[in-house]
Amino acid sequence: MLAHLAYVSKRTKACTDQEIDKILATAMQNNPTLDVTGVLLYTEDKFFQYVEGNYQTLTALYDKIKLDPRHQQVGLISMGPIKAKSFPQWHMGRKHLASYQLEMLTNQGSQVDVKTLLNNQDEKVGQKLQHLLATFFV
Ligand SMILES: Cc1cc2nc3c(=O)[nH]c(=O)nc-3n(C[C@H](O)[C@H](O)[C@H](O)COP(=O)(O)O)c2cc1C
Repeated sequence: MLAHLAYVSKRTKACTDQEIDKILATAMQNNPTLDVTGVLLYTEDKFFQYVEGNYQTLTALYDKIKLDPRHQQVGLISMGPIKAKSFPQWHMGRKHLASYQLEMLTNQGSQVDVKTLLNNQDEKVGQKLQHLLATFFV
């Protein structure tokens, strides 16, 4: 099933911009094989990552990413089915955002509890996020 997954996390102090370059290099290396695309958005102290691909592949990747010492307090924002990929060419796009922009993205999912998300088969949730993300990449 084609799905999306989005989370927010806190960049650790050690996670410099050079480390972000390395993360992106790893993603570019691994994600094509996994058929995963998406975007990594970041501020001075936070990450927001949106990934899209096969549901099981995404949960396995998320389990790996959660353990990465370059961030902490990893919190799921949204996951569920999508009709089509928003970033089919991007094995990981990147963009530096202002804090208020990142807040717009996190607020939209903050009222939903994780169990509801996991059982949610409604494509509208993913669609809403896809539309919001598109506004950063016009
Ligand atoms: C914010 C963040 C986003 C990441 N995104 C990806 C990703 O999209 N794909 C990926 O393979 N690794 C990603 N990583 C790196 C993984 O945590 C992990 O280091 C990597 O997958 C290990 O790859 P390897 O098994 O080839 O060494 C990310 C790490 C962080 C901190």
